[in-house]
Amino acid sequence: MLSKLLEKEINDQINYEFWSAQLYLSMSAHFSDLGLPGFAHWMYIQYQEETTHAIKFFNYVIERGGKAEVQPIKAVPTNWDSVLGVFEETMEHEQKVTARINHLADTAVAEKDHATQSMLRWFIDEQVEEEANVKAIVDTLKLVKDNGYAIYSLDKELAARVFVDSTQTGSNA
Ligand SMILES: [Fe+2]
Ligand SMILES: [Fe+2]
Repeated sequence: MLSKLLEKEINDQINYEFWSAQLYLSMSAHFSDLGLPGFAHWMYIQYQEETTHAIKFFNYVIERGGKAEVQPIKAVPTNWDSVLGVFEETMEHEQKVTARINHLADTAVAEKDHATQSMLRWFIDEQVEEEANVKAIVDTLKLVKDNGYAIYSLDKELAARVFVDSTQTGSNA
């Protein structure tokens, strides 16, 4: 059985993962509007991934005998000044998510809830990957600056990303 505190914190995280999903869907729409279908596709996969994260937490609360909550989702931004700006915001956002997951893990340790610690390990590993993936794109965008051809090439590259529901495969790859 989950403690009331962990139930609340995980329910809040469900909401935060859905908020993340909406943020990335909004970024995807923004890239489509700019005529960058590869960037839009990459963000759409990001949206799909965040939805699976929310559902992983949702199912976990239920599995542990808690009550999963579907809370209202706050509005997300809809416009950005530059392609780099979108990815810098993504980086900041993922760092915030990492801090939240670490906080959840601290709570699970404090409450001596080993099952929750074990479940969170998947998210801890996932965040390492999330931050590394985004950092690679931020670095490339900083390198190429406003070079149109480079942005065009990167758009083609990002179009090749394939969605894998890693909450089902058990690995974070
Ligand atoms: Fe996530
Ligand atoms: Fe994420």
